[in-house]
Amino acid sequence: MPTAVCPGSFDPVTNGHLDVIARATGMFDAVTVAVLVNPAKSSLFSLSERMEMLRGGVAGLRDVSVESFEGLLVDFCAERGIAAIVKGVRAMTDVDYELQMAQMNRRLTGIETVFVPASPAYSFLASSLLKEVAAYGGDITGLVPDEVLPLVTSRLAEREAAAGQSEESRPAPPER
Ligand code: PNS
Repeated sequence: MPTAVCPGSFDPVTNGHLDVIARATGMFDAVTVAVLVNPAKSSLFSLSERMEMLRGGVAGLRDVSVESFEGLLVDFCAERGIAAIVKGVRAMTDVDYELQMAQMNRRLTGIETVFVPASPAYSFLASSLLKEVAAYGGDITGLVPDEVLPLVTSRLAEREAAAGQSEESRPAPPER
């Protein structure tokens, strides 16, 4: 039974991610969404929060599971007998980076990568851009699942409040 993995940071999951995951289910018997554990990268949401949001997003899809992974993606795939990596590509800039990873992953274990062209409705969408827009009060409705939207805005507000507080508590520079 050929299975595929959709890997990523998902900080947070977007409707673009969910579109790729849903389309992967049409090509493979089962799909594992693999959330990267990367302590070196500071994320807006914890691993468990990101996984929880993903589980909500894929709840309507059949044969999709959500797991986390650390280390090499190819090792995660080998341990589970996963046959292919599915990646969404939005633009040529994605292709440059994704092609390099696909070729390295194939060199490591022979695993194939399947590229899914992003739907035009989401071809500009990235979690990082979404967070920047939301942080400045921009409307991100329709770009993330409805349940995720308030989580993004409230977490960004918490972050802003915490940053403001630490600025206030910083000692004033000495007067000259
Ligand atoms: O959503 P992202 O951050 O663009 O996802 C990148 C991800 C997680 C797919 C990629 O960084 C990855 O596969 N990381 C695991 C470590 C690994 O296998 N590195 C070698 C890639 S050739």
